[in-house]
Amino acid sequence: MLARRRLPGPIFDYLDGGSDDERSLARNASAFADYEIIPDVLTDVSSIQTATTLFGQPAAWPLMLSATGLTRMFHGSAEPAVARAAAAQAIPYCLSTMGTTRLEDLTSAVRVPALFQIYVFKDRGLTREFVARCRDAGYAGLCLTVDTPVAGNRLRDHRSGLSLPPRLTMRSLLDFALHPGWSIPALTGARFDLANVSHRTEALADTPMSLFDFIGRQFDSSLTWRDVEWLAAEWNGPLAIKGLMTPQDAARAVASGASGVIISNHGGRQLDGAPAPIDQVAAVRDALGDGPDVICDGGVRHGSDIVKALALGATACSIGRPYLYGLAAAGEAGVARVLTLLRGQFERTLALAGVPSIKTLNRRHIRHRPQ
Ligand code: FNR
Repeated sequence: MLARRRLPGPIFDYLDGGSDDERSLARNASAFADYEIIPDVLTDVSSIQTATTLFGQPAAWPLMLSATGLTRMFHGSAEPAVARAAAAQAIPYCLSTMGTTRLEDLTSAVRVPALFQIYVFKDRGLTREFVARCRDAGYAGLCLTVDTPVAGNRLRDHRSGLSLPPRLTMRSLLDFALHPGWSIPALTGARFDLANVSHRTEALADTPMSLFDFIGRQFDSSLTWRDVEWLAAEWNGPLAIKGLMTPQDAARAVASGASGVIISNHGGRQLDGAPAPIDQVAAVRDALGDGPDVICDGGVRHGSDIVKALALGATACSIGRPYLYGLAAAGEAGVARVLTLLRGQFERTLALAGVPSIKTLNRRHIRHRPQ
């Protein structure tokens, strides 16, 4: 795999890894294989309609690029490169609170349906600031991540001693030296910075620390549904709650003012043992009815996975690692390649399933494989 070859071990492990025994990480992807697509034949599939609406914005096909922190660590072209690849496909891109590009700089550089992902810090003024800045910078919607009250136990990062910002240690020196294609631009390029939060968190200014410690010090673990109500009222626009799993929590999210939900276990990086998102889609859609956006996030590795999620009731899917592997391997061109592959697989699967429009895709087209 090109990303593995290009990145020093600790950086690749941060991208690729999950929490604890990585059971949810593995299950997120393998659960898709338990579903079968039931085709219709002799339908006219000479033209395939994939356009949809996400966060109130048109999207050419039902995929969005999930928020991922520390993106500059994987490639110097960072978030703007990912956003440009998303814009070329006319699909949304979500910038993370832990991103390495200022939110204003992203939307001034790239015309993309942009979303901003919020982690609520103990400094609540920061959340208020995000809302105002996102409104001024023309963000289409917000995602509030709720699966990270504390940091997941990412054993690979503990073992590698990964720090923010990444630093050279005796242990990592050889690894960095063996990856000059990454290390030289990383050491000579733009300074690594948590660009949207560093002005309010002196924590990162001088001493490198682990992501685990950073989350423990900065993230607010007292967050509740009342905060969702507050954020929905304050933002008064498209808002998705990211990181929930159950129909009950999905209904509560919409009752609290969210316009959509992102079914997610953080790509298996937080609660290990949480169910695979694909297995929760049908129940969540049934609880919410037709209106709200339901996004299936985690484990999507092939275009047919998106077809399966939509047949079960999702509005769209989102991906994290797949586009980061592309970015690490070849910058913007690498992300573009991943998206082109997924889109080709998605459209071909629809044609082979005899489904000319995603609007006609439904539960008749899918079944859970008999065990
Ligand atoms: C993430 N994810 C994440 N989520 C979030 O809400 N805020 C964040 O800052 C991050 N950061 C992050 C970094 C890296 C390296 C990864 C791999 C993931 C989770 C991400 O948004 C998404 O939920 C998962 O990546 C989806 O699973 P897949 O597609 O990676 O299997």
